[in-house]
Amino acid sequence: MDKTYKRHLITTALPYANGPVHIGHLAGVYVPADIYVRYMRMRKRDVLFIGGSDEHGVPITLRARKEGVSPQDIVDRYHKIIKNAFENFGITFDIYSRTTSKTHFETASEFFKTLYDKGEFIQKTTKQYFDEKENQFLADRYIIGTCPKCGFEEAYGDQCEKCGSSLSPEELINPNSTISGNHPILKETTHWYLPLDKYEDELRQWILEDHKEWKPNVYGQCKSWIDGGLHPRAVSRDLNWGVPVPIEGVDDKVLYVWFDAPIGYISATKELTPEWEKYWKSDDSRLIHFIGKDNIVFHCIVFPSMLKHEGSYILPDNVPANEFLNLEGNKISTSKNWAVWLHEYLEDFPGKQDVLRYVLTANAPETKDNDFTWKDFQARNNNELVAILGNFINRSLVLTHKYFDGKVPAAEKWGEQEEAIIQQVNACKLGIEKNLEQFKFREALKNLMNIARIGNKYLTESEPWKLIKTDESRVKGILNVCLQLSAHLAHLGEAFLPFTMKKLREYLNISEAMWLEEDNFQLLQEGAEINKPGLLFEKIEDKQVQLQLDKLEATKQSNQAEAMETEPVKEACSFDDFMKMDIRVAQIETAEKVAKTKKLLKLTLNIGSEIRTVVSGIAEYYKPEDIIGMQVLYLANLAPKKLRGIDSEGMVLMAKEPDGRLRFVSPIEPVRNGSGVS
Ligand code: MF3
Ligand code: ZN
Repeated sequence: MDKTYKRHLITTALPYANGPVHIGHLAGVYVPADIYVRYMRMRKRDVLFIGGSDEHGVPITLRARKEGVSPQDIVDRYHKIIKNAFENFGITFDIYSRTTSKTHFETASEFFKTLYDKGEFIQKTTKQYFDEKENQFLADRYIIGTCPKCGFEEAYGDQCEKCGSSLSPEELINPNSTISGNHPILKETTHWYLPLDKYEDELRQWILEDHKEWKPNVYGQCKSWIDGGLHPRAVSRDLNWGVPVPIEGVDDKVLYVWFDAPIGYISATKELTPEWEKYWKSDDSRLIHFIGKDNIVFHCIVFPSMLKHEGSYILPDNVPANEFLNLEGNKISTSKNWAVWLHEYLEDFPGKQDVLRYVLTANAPETKDNDFTWKDFQARNNNELVAILGNFINRSLVLTHKYFDGKVPAAEKWGEQEEAIIQQVNACKLGIEKNLEQFKFREALKNLMNIARIGNKYLTESEPWKLIKTDESRVKGILNVCLQLSAHLAHLGEAFLPFTMKKLREYLNISEAMWLEEDNFQLLQEGAEINKPGLLFEKIEDKQVQLQLDKLEATKQSNQAEAMETEPVKEACSFDDFMKMDIRVAQIETAEKVAKTKKLLKLTLNIGSEIRTVVSGIAEYYKPEDIIGMQVLYLANLAPKKLRGIDSEGMVLMAKEPDGRLRFVSPIEPVRNGSGVS
């Protein structure tokens, strides 16, 4: 932060109110933002912490339709769950609002109108896919079809997840509505567009020149968007759920959810304080957006363009976006229920908010995607929180009670060792501060834990429990150091582990956490009373972890079962088409692995009249020696193909399980080799 700002406005991405929040949201956005804000408050900076639910968008309307309730019912339900969970987890928003509020409707409308009246938008009529059965235009995500680039049959209207190409819906071959399953038609519609192409030069200057300090992942993404050329973006949609487009005579369109949602930050600030304009409209205010990487383009390119061209607002000074957190090796997914839901965590691990805050910070996806595993969660709790931090505090406080009646002993007999510790702790303190200012929360947390590490090492090496018999004065000095270190942890750890540090401050009779500005090591006065300590952390047992793993396994199973059920039946084929296929019973005579491959087996098949050779991708599922003599089904007239230098004639038919495993299909009773199947 090179400029001195008077005020700080910290926003966090507004989660969609169509599902609860999960650890991915927390690690990417809310935990780092909350740490930052708590730190700022301790430094007595003027800061507002803004959050809220994003309650518009197509997924909410679809979910409502599926459940037979109104979109309002859906957002009411999840807004409440999300808000409560954040509160119980200790995310200290100054306001947690929602985009269905009256203030938000007014603010978003007014914002649109200002841009509209200034002539910023371009109006365009285009043809878009329309689902006649459902009587609605289809958002890109709700059209699937064949990818023109790679042939994948389930590509979305905006992207093929197989080859990664970004697409527009008209490019899809054989498009289908995912809502009704019907072929959509193209129909004319008029929308308003934000001409990002016209803003390209100013964006290039503002981001690529003036904000080189942004995180490399953020800067890099912006650069590739800008270098790739920006295009006008539609800011309205044909929908009836959202903020109505405030133009006379237009009554069946709403603002695009990504237009109204970020304005939600402004509306929430308005609801919070009559002084909201001071925060949003003066140059000595600093705006920071905490978001996940999928939100970068909206917060670095689209929203700043809106703010700038509206004319009266400041732009974000930084956008510390994180990468993604995966769960046990797979992408977190709300629709697949592959997640650790915050509200469930709070029920399953009562009182353990800080354990999750710790693990998500220590393993935060700051520079690359990371994986959350329950084993790692357990290990970090048991080996770090319990064994390092908890153990140090416990030993220090218990020994003080044992030898000195719970009173801070005098700093007697300090020497070089103590001088060194004071220096190291100062370095840790500076490390925490510097890293927090730069949004490097993992490093900051490491510096904090190092204070406990220093303390443990010191205790272990100086062995006060032995010295007490011979040199009580020295033991006083040692425990004084340990208590000072404990007090440092209680202050400096507040932003990271607020529940734990509150307890620790109670043990140490410290009333309020403060940022330790000056080089003052002696935070606790000689003779001050400390209370009997409890345990700051407890071990997490294998069975608690197993329970969570079982939960995930059940999710996996039920997703597979569902995938199995919903595999759609292919398009009809004629009897003649079917009869063209020559399917026969064949017996496997020999089987061997194809050299230098993992998946391929070379089989010879007896089809009565002759012996055929086939290369089959089943080596992961069958051992050659186990299948010799088996009778299987065989497509005899499939055109031959060379595979790894072997002529493969025809194909063995396999059943495919939902997890991709292949199994042979065999006649139930032995039949003559070569018998036809029809
Ligand atoms: N709801 C969006 C998401 O979860 C985030 C919206 S952020 C806002 O990806 F700025 F638009 F509010
Ligand atoms: Zn593709």
